[in-house]
Amino acid sequence: MNQFILQGRNSNLIFKNKILNASGCWCTTKKELKDLENSNCGGIVSKSCLFEKYEGNPQPRIYLSENVSLNSVGLANEGFKFYDSLKFSKPYIISIGVKDIELTFQMLKIIKHDFIELNISCPNINKPILGYDPDSLDDFLERLFLICDKNIGLKLPPYFDNSLLEKIANIINKYPLTYICCVNGIPNGLILDKNFNNVIKPNDGIGGIGGSYIKPFGLANVKKFNRLVKCPIIGCGGIKNKKDIEEYFSVGASLVQIGTELMIKGPKIFDELF
Ligand code: DHB
Repeated sequence: MNQFILQGRNSNLIFKNKILNASGCWCTTKKELKDLENSNCGGIVSKSCLFEKYEGNPQPRIYLSENVSLNSVGLANEGFKFYDSLKFSKPYIISIGVKDIELTFQMLKIIKHDFIELNISCPNINKPILGYDPDSLDDFLERLFLICDKNIGLKLPPYFDNSLLEKIANIINKYPLTYICCVNGIPNGLILDKNFNNVIKPNDGIGGIGGSYIKPFGLANVKKFNRLVKCPIIGCGGIKNKKDIEEYFSVGASLVQIGTELMIKGPKIFDELF
């Protein structure tokens, strides 16, 4: 059986297979989310949403190539009430972009859906990345679990410093988190075309890096967190094929998410992977 049961605090999610989309990839509009429902993915994660609908950054804002992607979408989304109003025939997790902490608490008070992925690692919000600030993260989670009985997953940035990773792991273990997802894109990447021009328009061409280039960091982060945290881990970063998925499982991932390769091939990618 390829099934996985994600145990929440009051309810569980039953995944028929262990392969999900990564938040941000093919999951912003109702049509894209329906495409995922009709595909062979085991579960759906929404685009990271904000309180209000937002257009995001100017186009072109995503660059895709065989081994690397670059994006600065800027949290284009339909507003959290839209994502909360949808229902699907497979597990559905709503991702919230933690851009403004007070507005995040507002959303968590109103939202009806039970499983939430908090994106504390968006590289494109022009604010400090919460996942890189252990003291602020600890304060945030302490406040959150005083008011919230939802099932909360955290989308983490990649860590390149062991002492920071260990600090974050200790914080994660203080709270009843349902899962962590490692890793989001690597912030602050720049890709130039053959004429030395930016390939995306926002932020001087600088954004989050995904694709095969980041798989070694995703694998190492999952391996290290797996030794340190109690909750399940979703592996993400540079998955293109079944072997990549097996690598993530071998270092301790319970589920995986597909980002860049889903953007390139569309939801039929799940036919090849599951
Ligand atoms: C965006 C990019 C990300 O990598 C992410 O995790 C969240 C949001 C964006 O620019 O919309």
